[in-house]
Amino acid sequence: MPEAGRVRNKVALVTGGASGIGRATCIRLAQEGATVVVADLNQEQGKKTVSMMAAGGSFIELDVTSETRWQELIAQVITEFGQLNVLVNCAGIGISGVFEETRLQDWQRIMDVNLTGLFLGCKHAVLAMQQAEPINGSIINISSIAGVVGGGDIAAYSASKGGVTTLTKSVALSCAERGMNIRCNSIHPTYVDSEMLDPIVEFYPDRDAMRAAMSENIPMGRMATPEDIANSVLFLASEESSIMTGATMMVDGGTTAGVTSKHSSD
Ligand SMILES: NC(=O)c1ccc[n+]([C@@H]2O[C@H](COP(=O)([O-])OP(=O)(O)OC[C@H]3O[C@@H](n4cnc5c(N)ncnc54)[C@H](O)[C@@H]3O)[C@@H](O)[C@H]2O)c1
Repeated sequence: MPEAGRVRNKVALVTGGASGIGRATCIRLAQEGATVVVADLNQEQGKKTVSMMAAGGSFIELDVTSETRWQELIAQVITEFGQLNVLVNCAGIGISGVFEETRLQDWQRIMDVNLTGLFLGCKHAVLAMQQAEPINGSIINISSIAGVVGGGDIAAYSASKGGVTTLTKSVALSCAERGMNIRCNSIHPTYVDSEMLDPIVEFYPDRDAMRAAMSENIPMGRMATPEDIANSVLFLASEESSIMTGATMMVDGGTTAGVTSKHSSD
C-alpha cells in the first residue's frame, strides 16, 4: 500500500457512498487524507460508511434527482468544510430485460438517477468549485463498460451510461476552455462484485456460480472488486492525474479491448 496522503487537504463528496463502489471509494479517499462527505438516500448504511472511514467525515442524505437537495448539500459542505475539491458521482441503479418490454416509467427513472442526477452534481459542483482561489477541482463520474458498448438486455442502463460518457467530456471541455482548473473524467468498470448484482444471483445456484459465469466474459478472468474501482477514483482525485480531463478510463480487465483470440485455438 502506498504512503497515505495522496489527497490530503482535499474535501471530497461521494454520492452512492452507502454501498459497493461508493463505500469503498469513501474508505480509500479517507485513508489517503481526504475529508469525505458521504451522500446517499440510505441513511443507515451511509452512516455505517462514515464509521468505517479512517479519518473524520460526515453523512448527508441526498436524492441525486433533486436539484434543491444538491444546492442545499453543496452549501452545507462549503459552510462546514470551507471548500469542495472532489466530487465522485457514483450513485446509480440498474435494470435489465428485453428492450421492447421496457416500461416508460423504468426508462425515465434510470435516466433521472443515472444521468440527470449526475448532471445536477456536475453543475452544482462546478458552480461551487469555481468560487475557490485557486480553482482546483476534480469530478469523477462512474459510468460503466455499458457506457461505451451496448448490452442486449440493458438498453436503458446502457443509454444512461453512454450519456454519462459524453456529458463528462463536455463538462471537461467547458471548464478547460474557460481556463478553469476543474477536471472531469469518467470511469468504466466491468462487472463489480457489489450489492448492485444481488438481484442477479437468483438466476444462478449461488453467488460463486454467478461470479464464475461473469468472470468468463472478462479476459483477465475475474470480476472487479469495489476496491479496484476506488483505487482508480483515488488516482483521478489526486494531483497524479492533473493533466487528465475528458478521459474515458476503462477499468474492465480487458472486457472492451477487442475480440479475444479464443477462436484461434478452437
Ligand atoms: N456493480 C457493477 O457491476 C457496476 C459495473 C459498472 C458500473 N457500475 C456503476 O457503479 C455505480 C455504483 O454501483 P454499485 O455497484 O456500488 O451499486 P450499489 O447498488 O452497491 O450502490 C449504489 C448506491 O447508490 C445509492 N442510490 C441509488 N439511487 C440513489 C439516489 N436517487 N440518490 C442517492 N443515492 C442513490 C444507493 O442507495 C446505493 O447506496 C453505479 O453508478 C453503477 O451503475 C456498477
